[in-house]
Amino acid sequence: MNIRDAVPSLLMILLAIAFRAHGADFNVQSMGAKANGKSDDSQAIMNSWKKACESTAPSKVVIPKGTYLASSLKFQGPCKAKSIILQVDGTIQAPADPSKIGGNTWVLFQNIDGLTVSGGGIFDGQGKLAWSKNDCAKTGKCSSLPNNMAFSSVTNSKIQGITSLDSKLFHVNIINCNNVVFQSIIISAPENSLNTDGIHIGRSKGITISNARIKTGDDCVSIGDGSEQVRVEGVTCGPGHGISVGSLGKYQNEQPVIGINVRNCILTNTMNGVRVKTWPASPSGVASDLHFEGITMNNVSTPVLIDQQYCPYGNCQQMMPSKVKISKVSFKNIKGTSATPMAVRLVCSKGVPCQNVQVGDINLKYNGKDGSATSECSNVKPSLSGSLFPKICARMS
Ligand SMILES: *[C@@H]1O[C@H](CO)[C@@H](O)[C@H](O)[C@H]1NC(C)=O
Repeated sequence: MNIRDAVPSLLMILLAIAFRAHGADFNVQSMGAKANGKSDDSQAIMNSWKKACESTAPSKVVIPKGTYLASSLKFQGPCKAKSIILQVDGTIQAPADPSKIGGNTWVLFQNIDGLTVSGGGIFDGQGKLAWSKNDCAKTGKCSSLPNNMAFSSVTNSKIQGITSLDSKLFHVNIINCNNVVFQSIIISAPENSLNTDGIHIGRSKGITISNARIKTGDDCVSIGDGSEQVRVEGVTCGPGHGISVGSLGKYQNEQPVIGINVRNCILTNTMNGVRVKTWPASPSGVASDLHFEGITMNNVSTPVLIDQQYCPYGNCQQMMPSKVKISKVSFKNIKGTSATPMAVRLVCSKGVPCQNVQVGDINLKYNGKDGSATSECSNVKPSLSGSLFPKICARMS
């Protein structure tokens, strides 16, 4: 073979190498997704994911603009390459009927290392019908409806820019994850949608939620047992129930919550601001190193709250104390307006009083007509600093 004949095949080899290094794009429409909002595109999306995940070079699944009906999606790893991208520009819609979704999650990401989810796409849970069937408050069990999205055993990953809309239950459930950043995500559901927690974190380490915009019917962010090194920064919340550590102490063998930093957040017209909640009559547990700083409250019903008698459905042994030990907590630089006179409530357990609680630079005004903001404390002696309005522990019990 002379040089001239070898050039084309050499070119082919070079091209092949280039493509391997960059990986390939798998467009779900080329894989058969109809994007007509009527036929179920789950299979086409899953086939695209499988191809990308099996590729030895970092690859990308692209969901272009359009409306994709999907009964359920399971983005399953481990994948062969070091990283994988899911770019969502379209709207993915769940069936409105909860019974058409198998299992307790509509869109699941599982066992993936190096995942990037990007694009301005929307995961629309179409929750309206499900909310009317929610019997959580009656049964105390809230697992009968599917969560919109779950990240389970996902590591070293970044989720950015996507929207979770009208989830049937929780919007985003983060479980067993390590080192994952959620950046600029949007969460939206009406104020009266039941148990639609925005982002729930449990048994995970190194999770950052930054610049999320959350409007929903339950906690904007809730941080459950086994969470460590969690940062919540630049989040806006409202309507919703606020940003919570807990609830803790409902189950046996809950893992400690350690190292939670909530900073520079804005809460508007929410039921609570920043709170720590544990159930009465609980098994023992630990919540430590919880810091809330630089928070703006706009017409928040209880802006600052430790509630160790949390019992939303009213069937608790209220006389038995919570045994979740809360320590090393700080509330600093918290300003704005309270929708009720009780702006700061620190109600700790008489069984295991809170320890090392610091409160500094609080300026919360009651925005109602009569009276002014006040506070109450039980089973806690916070150390105080800076200027404090209202006076902290105005009432002691
Ligand atoms: C303040 O919050 C209360 C109770 O949630 C609500 O009824 C009221 O409309 C809110 N006020 C404003 C100005 O948003």
